[in-house]
Amino acid sequence: MNPAISKRYAVPGWHYETIQAESDCVEPKDRMLRVIRSMADQEAPDFSSVDWDAELAAFGEVDFPAYYRQPFHSVPGGYLSRAAAIGDRCAMEAIYQDDHPRRSLGLREELGSLVPAEARTVVDLGCGTGDAAAAIARRLPEARVTALDASPFMLVAARHQNGGIANLEFEQGFAEATRFEDASVDAVTITLVFHECPDEIKRRVLAEAHRILRPGGSLTLSDTAQEDLQSYRGFYEPYKEQWLEFDPAAFVRDAGFAEIVAKNVAPPLWSFVARKPL
Ligand SMILES: C[S@@+](CC[C@H](N)C(=O)[O-])C[C@H]1O[C@@H](n2cnc3c(N)ncnc32)[C@H](O)[C@@H]1O
Repeated sequence: MNPAISKRYAVPGWHYETIQAESDCVEPKDRMLRVIRSMADQEAPDFSSVDWDAELAAFGEVDFPAYYRQPFHSVPGGYLSRAAAIGDRCAMEAIYQDDHPRRSLGLREELGSLVPAEARTVVDLGCGTGDAAAAIARRLPEARVTALDASPFMLVAARHQNGGIANLEFEQGFAEATRFEDASVDAVTITLVFHECPDEIKRRVLAEAHRILRPGGSLTLSDTAQEDLQSYRGFYEPYKEQWLEFDPAAFVRDAGFAEIVAKNVAPPLWSFVARKPL
């Protein structure tokens, strides 16, 4: 576990093809091309020792809903692919390379500071390859952090990329229907997930977060600017029109949360912190 970070990411050719094929995009039109090119300069986790077939088989059969079976980011298979999982860290590092001295990993540390220090049970919904959850687990060593994602592929990568952190565990599940009991969790985090969900799923995920949080528990919702997705040429985002209209504070309020405060600790990502009322 936790393999040496030594490899360079080999960018698949279809990334370039989809970028060139799409003309409908706002300025700067070369933004995605720049990201894809610089993915090759990022240090990539080494997954060469991973037995993907064996690890994926351990998850068994999962019924994925249609909203989730989309070719997100123009990756064939979307999140249900090795390509998405293997390239995730490098893509995030490339996208945020100018926004923090430690790029996306640095942004995740800033976001982790929004989780209350007294939290002892933290659930990260839609954890991807786990870098945000890992930052929280390192910062709060007395907390038990559960990182949940729908994609077995992302979770295989997460367990290798962020292995060896004693208070961090990964599990497969849907953010809108988790196994956690009512009022059993101190803090829920949701990072860069909602721009990839239709509005109905955003509502269901917030209802689930509200259900599992104890009274007084903390919600941290972080994501990218509403107009941001329109500037990534060739980066398929099925719900980007809904994202333009999304009002995070209103959704959080309508789900029953209170004390809703906007935070700007990790620009260009925005965050809202809220509490489940006592
Ligand atoms: C852009 S990635 C962000 C991952 C991570 N939170 C981060 O900050 O890097 C979105 C992740 O959300 C997951 N996801 C999307 N919808 C989900 C759902 N309904 N339930 C669980 N995971 C979901 C995807 O599988 C993917 O790993």
